[in-house]
Parts: sequence; C-alpha cells; structure tokens
Amino acid sequence: MIALVGMPGGGKSTVGKQLARQIGVPFVDSDHEIEQRIGGSIRPFFERHGEDAFRDIETEVIAELIARAGECVLATGGGAVLRERNRELLHNGAIVLYLRSTPEDLFRRLRHDTTRPLLQVRDPLAKLRELHQQRDPLYRRCAHYVLESARPSVHALVNMALMQL
Ligand code: S3P
Repeated sequence: MIALVGMPGGGKSTVGKQLARQIGVPFVDSDHEIEQRIGGSIRPFFERHGEDAFRDIETEVIAELIARAGECVLATGGGAVLRERNRELLHNGAIVLYLRSTPEDLFRRLRHDTTRPLLQVRDPLAKLRELHQQRDPLYRRCAHYVLESARPSVHALVNMALMQL
C-alpha cells in the first residue's frame, strides 16, 4: 500500500488517483470510507459531533484499511497524522508519501472551498499557517518520503512518487 499524507488542498486525491491508475491498483480515500460509515458528509458530522468523534472513526477506518485494503493507493484526511496510533499504523503498514505545500499555495487552491470544516473561519490563511506549523513535523514523522508539491504539476508529482517506489 502507498499512503499519501499532507494538508487539505495539497493534492492527495488528485495525485493519488493518477498514481493508482499508473501503477494499476485501486485508489482508496479514507474520508470517503468515513462518509460511507457515518452515512453523510464530513462537515455536518464534524459540526454536530465534534472533532474527537470524527477522529475516533478516522482511526477505526485507517486501521481497517491498513489491515484489509491490500495493494492500493490510499489518500488520508489532512488530520490523520494527529494521532500517534494513526502515524504508526500508516508508517508500518504502507509506503507513506508526504505531499508538502506552503500554506499560501494551499490557500490559493482552497479559497472557495466550503467542505473543510476546519477552514470555515474568518481568516482561513491564518488557520492554514497554524495547521501547517502544527502538522508539518507530524507528517514528516509519519512519512518515508517528502514530495514538495507547491511548484510541480500533478504529472511531475506522480513521477516523483513513482521514483521513490
Ligand atoms: C481534515 C481534512 C479533511 C477531512 C476533515 C478533517 C483536517 O480531509 O478529513 O475535514 O483535519 O485537515 P482532506 O485533507 O482530504 O481535506
């Protein structure tokens, strides 16, 4: 299994889908699996039940995917690395690639997004800077490789990922 970690808007799904197609394995998205389980979208669940309840389900889903999904490319949610248990599961169960972007690049891509609960604040750029600062060391700890995703195209990123495998 190849797992992609990184901030929201960093290209995990886009790169993950192309990478999976190129290697010839299924693409799996842990947020999508969570949505299947809760029977709806993440944002309303998050707002209603809180971040902790969401993180509990996220950990269950990641543990199950690592145990059962087999050969695939897995895109994880941006906060998956917050829990040590998730970092261990991913690090020991997959080749983990960190798609790293600057908060400014993420902001450019997410400006008009309404699906990410953590970014529904007055100053999303400040929030992205704060989250990046908090999470960058965690992504690095969890990952085997860091791919800088600010400049290169998706195509270049997929090739960078392929070279690490
Ligand atoms: C989150 C990122 C989201 C999703 C949830 C929480 C986060 O996934 O898991 O909204 O804490 O950064 P994406 O990284 O796919 O946006």
